[in-house]
Amino acid sequence: MTRFGLFRWSVLAAALTPAASLVYWTFTGDLTANPVDFITDTTGTTALSLLVFTLTVTPLRRVTSRNELIRLRRMLGLLAFFYACLHMLTWIVLDWFFDVASMAADVTERPYIMMGMATFLLLVPLAATSTTAMIRRLGRRWQPLHRLVYVAAATAVIHFWWVVKADFRQPRLWAVALCVLFGFRVWWVLQAHAPARA
Ligand code: HEM
Repeated sequence: MTRFGLFRWSVLAAALTPAASLVYWTFTGDLTANPVDFITDTTGTTALSLLVFTLTVTPLRRVTSRNELIRLRRMLGLLAFFYACLHMLTWIVLDWFFDVASMAADVTERPYIMMGMATFLLLVPLAATSTTAMIRRLGRRWQPLHRLVYVAAATAVIHFWWVVKADFRQPRLWAVALCVLFGFRVWWVLQAHAPARA
């Protein structure tokens, strides 16, 4: 296996560790005094982290000129979606046990739930169009569609911000990281369109 292949497997193993730990702690009874909150927080934080890591791949690739890094992007994006699904399923199954009326009320009454739902709905078309066949099928439309990942990351940070009641350090940190990544993107587009100097 190449060194990059090994690196990719290590990233995959690291990204799956929170899910594996949750399964392990379920069997050992170590999911804290409030298991549902713990699972919700772990899956939510991991989904957001992976989403932001997905956005770091392209800038890293530009800075290091290591083109193979692009192969991490789809994997990280799909892992973010996987955790977002676990996070949402926790809410559907463990919080509400499929009680559709209560879930609908929760979405309309609590703005942070609505923002979480919006984030999840933004991630669905991105995950659905991440296969090689879909990339080919969508052609030039694929890239503009996948820029939605910035919107999804922004709504995820807002969701986190609205969840928090007192200590805003973590959502603030994610907001700054996102602004830096977005700034990099804008700067890069401006550079590409800047008139050539004589
Ligand atoms: C159907 C969609 C979603 C629902 C219903 C939902 C619901 C929740 C709930 C109930 C909490 C815990 C609130 C509390 O502790 O009082 C939470 C926290 C959180 N969610 Fe979501 N969420 C959704 C989607 C998402 C998505 C897509 C992401 C990220 C990509 C995300 C990231 C987070 C984060 C980072 C937290 C805070 C965790 C912490 O306190 O450490 N959520 N969400």
